[in-house]
Amino acid sequence: MKIGIVGLGYVGLPLALAFAEAGHEVVGLDTDPRKVEGLNAGRSHIEDVPDAALAPLGERLRATGNQADLASCEAIVICVPTPLTGSREPDLTYLLDSATALSGVLQPEQLVVLESTTYPGTTRERLLPILEESGMKAGTDFHLAFSPERIDPGRTDFTVKTTPKLVGGFTAACAERARELYSLICDEVIVLSSPEAAELSKLLENIFRSVNIALVNELAQLCDRLEIDVWEVVDAAATKPFGFMRFEPGPGMGGHCLPVDPFYLAFKAREHDFYPEFIELAGKVNQTQPAFCVERIERALNDAGKPVKGSRILLLGVSYKAGVGDTRESPALKIARRLTQLGGDVSYHDPHVPELPELGLKSVKVEESLSSCDVTAIVTAHPEIDYQDVVSSAPLVVDFRGVTRDIDSPKLVRL
Ligand SMILES: NC(=O)c1ccc[n+]([C@@H]2O[C@H](COP(=O)([O-])OP(=O)(O)OC[C@H]3O[C@@H](n4cnc5c(N)ncnc54)[C@H](O)[C@@H]3O)[C@@H](O)[C@H]2O)c1
Repeated sequence: MKIGIVGLGYVGLPLALAFAEAGHEVVGLDTDPRKVEGLNAGRSHIEDVPDAALAPLGERLRATGNQADLASCEAIVICVPTPLTGSREPDLTYLLDSATALSGVLQPEQLVVLESTTYPGTTRERLLPILEESGMKAGTDFHLAFSPERIDPGRTDFTVKTTPKLVGGFTAACAERARELYSLICDEVIVLSSPEAAELSKLLENIFRSVNIALVNELAQLCDRLEIDVWEVVDAAATKPFGFMRFEPGPGMGGHCLPVDPFYLAFKAREHDFYPEFIELAGKVNQTQPAFCVERIERALNDAGKPVKGSRILLLGVSYKAGVGDTRESPALKIARRLTQLGGDVSYHDPHVPELPELGLKSVKVEESLSSCDVTAIVTAHPEIDYQDVVSSAPLVVDFRGVTRDIDSPKLVRL
């Protein structure tokens, strides 16, 4: 088949790779010329897709900035960003722009699938009318479906192939076309009754995580007051072989999905005079977590007889999760900003994030910085760091990730 992928980011590029590796011809469209140029020269901009994976594909995977190249594809999958506006409302600009451009080149019989995470109704109410500006009718002249992306950057135990894929078609025939498409690369494809059911399933998956992370984060704050080790409690509860699923406390939620997606559902719910309290409460608790972490650092410094002002504070790990370089919505940024406002001399080390232009910082060498700082805070626990060494070298360590659980040291403070 010839498949077009719109948006070659964390979601689109691995998907393009999966289709090309399965022997299909892939045209990847992106509005960022640097990504297009890089990919055509064999350079990947996504950590999960090494350059070496692109080389054997040759002409089977081609990047382009030219919309017209989509006209010859049998199926087109849209993977553009769906962020929030400044006032925390869904920002569908990228999606609507890509749909408008696509409607100009749409061909009869083509299948269009939306993968971007969004609120239920987006495919039918927002995407469909724009595509029909082509003069063709969805379900008759072209096919339309929604299929949520379930990629988890950095994860290697589940891949695009082994993670079951959900599809919801505008008509039964649309769903069947989408099922055929994903069967080319996925071991299991599950057909739902509508695009809305597929859209909402994705939000449920992410909101489930958000609510449970909020629960353990709140528990961590309570444990701090009760002087109980939250990690011991979580480890203990996780020994129950049924009825409990482990979630870990931390410095707060980050990434493009968990802090953003609940707002998409809350927006849709408000249109129906419904106020989803669980979802909003979880967002609220998770958003206060970085402030709690700052206070924890402040207290640790205070116990060592030092104010935040003028203290050298090293943050270890600034990406939103271990093993990746993505800093979108990362709680480390909030922690760094607040500590800087308080007069702290903040630096960071992250093997995946060479610089943070928004904070005017570059990753420092960890060996030199550990002993010269007043406190080191483990914000994101990248696996390549030796935490025993961190505790030995630094004068004071605050651990928000529980990676020092097996280390006993008077200069160690844990969430
Ligand atoms: N990153 C994840 O882990 C993840 C997981 C599941 C779902 N999702 C969802 O998938 C969608 C994409 O996320 P992402 O992380 O891949 O985003 P991303 O920012 O990494 O990539 C999006 C790409 O789309 C391009 N783009 C923007 N507008 C375009 C247009 N009009 N035409 C063509 N290209 C355009 C951008 O240049 C960028 O390369 C979002 O809805 C997100 O919520 C992301």
